[in-house]
Amino acid sequence: MVGVGYVGIVTGACLADLGHDVTCLDTDRRKIDQLRGGVIPIFEPGLPGLVHHNTTAGRLRFDYDYSEAIPGAELVMLAVGTPTSDRGKADLSSILPAVDDVARLMDPGTTIVVKSTVPVGTTAALAIQVAEARPDVAFEIASNPEFLRQGSAVEDFMKPARIVVGSRTAQAAATVRELYQPMIDGGTPAIFCNLETAELIKYASNAFLAVKLSFVNEMADVCEEAGADINYLTEALGLDPRIGKHFLNAGPGFGGSCLPKDTQALLQTTQLVGAPSRVVAAAIDVNANRPSRMVNKIAMATGGSVRGKRIAVLGLTFKANTDDLRQSPALAIIRWLIGHEAQVRVFDPAGMDKAAALLDRVEFAADAYSCVTDADAVAILTEWPEFAALDLERVRGLVAEPMIIDLRNLYDPATMKRAGFTYHSIGR
Ligand code: UDX
Repeated sequence: MVGVGYVGIVTGACLADLGHDVTCLDTDRRKIDQLRGGVIPIFEPGLPGLVHHNTTAGRLRFDYDYSEAIPGAELVMLAVGTPTSDRGKADLSSILPAVDDVARLMDPGTTIVVKSTVPVGTTAALAIQVAEARPDVAFEIASNPEFLRQGSAVEDFMKPARIVVGSRTAQAAATVRELYQPMIDGGTPAIFCNLETAELIKYASNAFLAVKLSFVNEMADVCEEAGADINYLTEALGLDPRIGKHFLNAGPGFGGSCLPKDTQALLQTTQLVGAPSRVVAAAIDVNANRPSRMVNKIAMATGGSVRGKRIAVLGLTFKANTDDLRQSPALAIIRWLIGHEAQVRVFDPAGMDKAAALLDRVEFAADAYSCVTDADAVAILTEWPEFAALDLERVRGLVAEPMIIDLRNLYDPATMKRAGFTYHSIGR
């Protein structure tokens, strides 16, 4: 497994747990040393136990010496990052040298599996790169995108909704299939297709989710103007099996390391191939405007201006059950509040350490209750379960003004009213 980022560690540990013999490689020695010492650099429920169990059992190792692990490997999986570079394009500057290393060291017959999210055509181009580096050596190549959600990545790996394998030969498909045989035997559908289709499936999946969310968020705006209620609306939508009930929660916009980056990259691809997607462009555009709409909501709730107001912010991460702040709408909202001279105090169950390096002029509270103490308004920005289960009476006793702006619709407006709060939420 090349790359001990999010996907590499989770996938490596899970494959080891299925009984495979896995070495996770990275050029970053510090990360490898950490992992060898049992420190997992990411927050992911279930992962520390899985890593510990499989390293102890001798099926999972961490190494920076590629020349130890690549020769003799039947299968080399690439899970290096492909962040957004200029104008939304996927940045391939990590995967290209990684492939050179693999090509240099691999034994004949190795199957290279691209797990990283890469634009259509990349895996075929990587195959040419390998063939040019080792013209004498036969190898196989496949595309095997991941669909892991942060916060439930281990479960998503072990109980996937589908497995996607792109290849050019039956042999490459069969080798990758073997990896997932227990899931396939357990009924998980597997799609075997060509390289390009597999690459595109990943982007189309994330873009479809993004479209769903931007649509719902727009409908929430319409509900606000029209006197309708987004929660009932999405509940009814979700009961139509053609729509499905998941991914219909209105909120401050989608964030994270995948949806924003993959929608941008897919848009680029569609433009490049001469079939530009207007739907994906619109989903990105709607999402880009989301934080300012949220900010407007907070400003209106606090009487038109946040200047000098003490705002308690609950939630920093882009969603619950992660410590990831990448593209978190909460950060955009907080920066705006600070820019408009609000006094901001924040609390998040997992994102505080990372936020300290990213946010100036905010006060970090030890828990939700000290965060809301003396606040003129409380803004809920992330749907952490503990924010949905606040002791409302206690909060009421601590705040200066009983005002809650809930951008995740965690509460029922009637309950809030009874508890004595002025309550603003999304699309209701
Ligand atoms: C996503 C995809 O779900 C996963 O399949 C892919 O492999 C990686 O990208 P992730 O980034 O972990 O996973 O987050 P996800 O749970 O999909 O949420 C993305 C964003 O959408 C978050 O900001 C979340 O708060 C938001 N969201 C999600 C909503 O606003 N409402 C919802 O109903 C669901």
